[in-house]
Amino acid sequence: MGPNNGRRGAARKGVLLIVGALAISSLFAAPARTEDAQLVRGKYLVTFGGCTDCHTPGHFFGKPDTARLLAGSDVGFAIPGLGGS
Ligand code: HEC
Repeated sequence: MGPNNGRRGAARKGVLLIVGALAISSLFAAPARTEDAQLVRGKYLVTFGGCTDCHTPGHFFGKPDTARLLAGSDVGFAIPGLGGS
């Protein structure tokens, strides 16, 4: 055992830690990317479909409350057979 063995051992441990962390993070990277793609697709569909128009408070009064985007309408109109009322 030379005087540098302790430091070299610590360096090797550090490399192993980094490789381990990369291996673990790559396990989670793939699902996250799929989720991102789904979020982008969902946002596209909701924007394209104009869902915010009827489902955001204030929209029908010309002042959509962007802090409560898609939080539901304060105008009480309903589609028969849909929803509780
Ligand atoms: C023209 C206005 C309008 C637009 C645009 C609109 N909605 Fe709705 N939505 C309604 C109304 C009215 C109801 C029924 C509410 C009720 O009967 O209580 C409803 C109900 C719903 C429900 C069912 C809620 C429940 O409690 O069962 C969902 C989910 C929904 N809308 C999603 C969407 C999505 C997604 C879009 C965009 C693609 C969209 N809406 C666009 C007016 C609209």
